[in-house]
Amino acid sequence: MSAPKPQPFPAAAAFRQALLAWFARHRRPLPWRREVSAYRTVVSELMCQQTQVAAVIPYFERWVARWPSFAALARAREPEVLAAWAGLGYYTRARNLLALAQQVAGRPEPRTAEEWRAFKGVGPYTAAAIASIAFGEPVAVVDGNVIRVLARVTGLRAHLKDSAAAARSLAPSADALVDPRRPGDFNQAMMELGATVCRKAAPACDRCPVARWC
Ligand code: ADE
Repeated sequence: MSAPKPQPFPAAAAFRQALLAWFARHRRPLPWRREVSAYRTVVSELMCQQTQVAAVIPYFERWVARWPSFAALARAREPEVLAAWAGLGYYTRARNLLALAQQVAGRPEPRTAEEWRAFKGVGPYTAAAIASIAFGEPVAVVDGNVIRVLARVTGLRAHLKDSAAAARSLAPSADALVDPRRPGDFNQAMMELGATVCRKAAPACDRCPVARWC
């Protein structure tokens, strides 16, 4: 099989503008948006991997109050890290986060998605989220919510049963659609649209800023 070609998306600029205008009005006041850093983005994205955003909020607040930086977390002991994670589930994420902090602390922070992918527990989705939100790299986050939005607006229905295959086949089109000037906001807007408006069941199309492309 040949690599999927990026699908040119008509009116990408208008799509970005409509999405970002909606996001400016409706973005949720999430604690990792108050102040953005690589550390806060890594913590929030690992916590959000298998857990709903609403459940993550109190854990994130306690975590960054106790360990405000990679250096602070790197000095923590595994049992206290696991205790602070208790209730979020999937504890491998906590161990991966501690190991990542120990590797990053005291060095220049990795910046690109490719560099972030070198860490255990950081897959393509999380690496793109960190690089775009914390460093402005124009790479698309392609998670389940984004796959659904993209599939609906591009009319692509291929491979949607298998989300890893769907992510691979949609990634080139998704990268081409990201706003190169505001990739972090664009990605968060896509995730948020998928979670709150372009829902799997009963999508709220009457409130959708990009319904005209659908
Ligand atoms: N889900 C995971 N990370 C997110 C983010 N930064 N914004 C919205 N939803 C998310």
